[in-house]
Amino acid sequence: MYIVQIASECAPVIKAGGLGDVVYGLSRELEIQGNCVELILPKYDCMRYDHIWGLHEAYRDLWVPWYGAAIHCSVYCGWVHGRVCFFIEPHSEDNFFNRGCYYGCHDDNMRFAFFSKAALEFIHQSNKRPDVIHCHDWQTGLIPVMLYEIYQYHGMSNQRVCYTIHNFKHQGFGGCEILWATGLSRESYYFDPERLQDNFNPFSLNFMKGGIVYSNAVTTVSPHHADEARYTSIAYGLGHSLYLAQDKFSGVLNGIDTDFWHPETDRYIPEHYTKDDLAGKAENKKALRERLLLQDVDKPLIAYIGRLDDQKGVHLVHHAIYYALNKGAQFVLLGSPTESAIGSWFSHEKRHLNDNPDVHLELSFNEELSHLIYAGADMIVVPSNYEPCGLTQMIGLKYGTVPIVRGVGGLVNTVFDRDYDNYHLPEERNGYVFYNTDNYALESAMERAIGLWYDYPEEFEKLIIQGMNCDYSWKYPGKEYLAIYEHIRHK
Ligand code: GLC
Repeated sequence: MYIVQIASECAPVIKAGGLGDVVYGLSRELEIQGNCVELILPKYDCMRYDHIWGLHEAYRDLWVPWYGAAIHCSVYCGWVHGRVCFFIEPHSEDNFFNRGCYYGCHDDNMRFAFFSKAALEFIHQSNKRPDVIHCHDWQTGLIPVMLYEIYQYHGMSNQRVCYTIHNFKHQGFGGCEILWATGLSRESYYFDPERLQDNFNPFSLNFMKGGIVYSNAVTTVSPHHADEARYTSIAYGLGHSLYLAQDKFSGVLNGIDTDFWHPETDRYIPEHYTKDDLAGKAENKKALRERLLLQDVDKPLIAYIGRLDDQKGVHLVHHAIYYALNKGAQFVLLGSPTESAIGSWFSHEKRHLNDNPDVHLELSFNEELSHLIYAGADMIVVPSNYEPCGLTQMIGLKYGTVPIVRGVGGLVNTVFDRDYDNYHLPEERNGYVFYNTDNYALESAMERAIGLWYDYPEEFEKLIIQGMNCDYSWKYPGKEYLAIYEHIRHK
């Protein structure tokens, strides 16, 4: 099958979060399973050019209709770890992608509406005829809309769209200007509850809603999160749109790239290890302590790796640090704050804990250090408020680092409580789960984990191995997506 992935990120060239990892990992797996895959991305000035091989200008003259006129674009082609990627560069005064950042501009909606339009125009003008176009998140929500309303009349009536939602919180909004710019001209037609009109604000258009209404298949990144979107408020107002789309909506669990994340081959860690011989893991713990100047004592080491923001449950992350120290554990945090208030809060804590030899807070992201932490830590906490899928718990499991997670979203589909899980056999259980968002709930799980580490080391090791036995690679998710593609292709 011929599949084109269109997204605002693709790791490692463009990565702000898990979206980038997923777009890369899924594309790679689809290729391994025998399909032809191409990616279309914006050409940002700040992306990691050192990860692109053979970048060259492949199309000089792509004219993209915009506000009744047209913007001249170049399309570059290059290989990102073997994947063929096309990067779109507009030559306009707006400088859409030369802003030194991926997101966070006042006109993000226009930037990505333009990208969506340009991606379709590129497919159209270069005569690519993919069987399936797979788009991701709000940034590409207008693609199925424009495909159906405009491009199907330009020889693209056989293309089907699969739309994946990684985070319902960011939906993309705009007014009439979006319609005027993209050439979706009939205002009253689109400002309609059955089309793009936002479910809360009748004066606003909603990109993600467009993606849901117009795509042939809609997915989110885990089966449990799909249920949360159906039954709770986590879809941020899109619940009714999902209800109307129920026949085409499902949850497909993400995978992790197990070539990149593998304790037997990881090039960022000093000692390799396997589930049959965990000696190397102890060596990595030692190396991690040395690097972060933690004292070498007989204590469990607990880690947090990820953004520091409301979604990730910062208050519980904060509490986890102090609770760990109280219970005789060490704590390492690696994460970048997304808001200045959270940044100054954690900087304050960092100064406060500066002389404590059992804790280290690293308030920025560092890919290489993250590998050493996964390999060296005994446990990893993921106390998210909500978590559509979550990749850190799966990476933790692969590295024999026992996850302690809040039972939400994809965490429910991947971590099974050692003591209480009713749906999995004892030998299938791999971590600790808690439910409420208060400190006590977190403590109940951390206490059981730390207790097992101290009192029953052989049992703890068994739990590590059971986690390492889990297969959260892309193999099965890749098959599931292919089944969805096949299904919509023949409809
Ligand atoms: C978003 C979600 C996260 C998910 C990732 C990849 O970042 O917050 O849970 O793992 O997308 O799908």
